[in-house]
Amino acid sequence: MPLYRPVKIGSLELPGNLFLAPVAGYTDRAFRTICAELGADFTYTELASAEALTRNSSRTMMMLKRGESGKPYAVQLFGADPDAVYRAVLLLAALKPEAVDINSGCPALKVVKTGAGAALMKDPALLGRVVEAAANASVKALGGVPVTVKLRSGWDWEHINYRDCARAAVEAGAALVCLHPRTRAQGYGGRSDWSHIADLAAGLSVPVAGSGDLYSPEDAGRMLRETGCAAVMFARGAMGNPFIFALTKEYLDKGEWTPPDYAVRFAAAFRQLELLASDIGEKAACLEMRKQFCAYTKGIGCRAGLTGGARLRDRLVHAETISDYRVILGEQRGE
Ligand SMILES: Cc1cc2nc3c(=O)[nH]c(=O)nc-3n(C[C@H](O)[C@H](O)[C@H](O)COP(=O)(O)O)c2cc1C
Repeated sequence: MPLYRPVKIGSLELPGNLFLAPVAGYTDRAFRTICAELGADFTYTELASAEALTRNSSRTMMMLKRGESGKPYAVQLFGADPDAVYRAVLLLAALKPEAVDINSGCPALKVVKTGAGAALMKDPALLGRVVEAAANASVKALGGVPVTVKLRSGWDWEHINYRDCARAAVEAGAALVCLHPRTRAQGYGGRSDWSHIADLAAGLSVPVAGSGDLYSPEDAGRMLRETGCAAVMFARGAMGNPFIFALTKEYLDKGEWTPPDYAVRFAAAFRQLELLASDIGEKAACLEMRKQFCAYTKGIGCRAGLTGGARLRDRLVHAETISDYRVILGEQRGE
């Protein structure tokens, strides 16, 4: 079986198995558009509060809109109240996502103290009710698009219960489970334990997507091969590196990949800036893109062609207008 292959999530058929993970503060509409244009087969919005959606839908809805590529995407919600999740999913009818994902892994205090995110894993039966509510609302308002769930391994090393949670989610109607095999206590530190992904992929009746420590095409190939998961989700490895999807496909198909040069990298960063500016305005977009432009100067494929990276980053973090970015990058190219 080829490592790059289609994935079937309930009624949804995707042509490939390279996904962009939900990443708060990064996977906004602009970045999802860039990733989809550059090869991501499926993208996830950052997490959004089901409660907030039902209270102040216009601002949250704006965050959750489909990217310009028009490619399939999932909206990720967090919530511990099945009724609020049901009502929030009904509202998603205006966006027509191809899937709804329930966040059961966020470690942030402000999320877990509401009983949502990783705290849902403490109560697999409640997780099941939340998934069931989302699935019922999907049938009512979204034509029955699949509901997926993103889990961690457990709350901490004394409470590893991803199997129970995955089973409860699937019994309640989840059509794919993504596992990020760190515990809530680990946050984003240490290593993810891919043996948990392999264990789940071998025992679950629905596809399993793997997340954790995917920074290169080789990492993705290794995860697909070693765990037998159906799909991989790039998170930190995609920041400033939306090219990772096409490079991974190239690697999985041909066994090698060629990094993009700086002209290509900066063209993508610039397009991201322009897309973001059209969503949130130039001022906010320029501030937001400072960290993203810096990310584009690091990471895979950056080993050649950039001189004075630290000086460039120092200038980028002071850019205030689109024209500032244009001047800085033009000078970098020697124009
Ligand atoms: C800054 C940051 C924000 C994240 N936000 C979300 C989120 O909104 N929803 C979610 O399910 N996971 C979120 N994650 C987890 C990622 O989707 C992913 O599972 C995790 O980073 C492991 O992958 P990696 O080690 O390849 O980065 C976030 C991770 C980071 C670092």
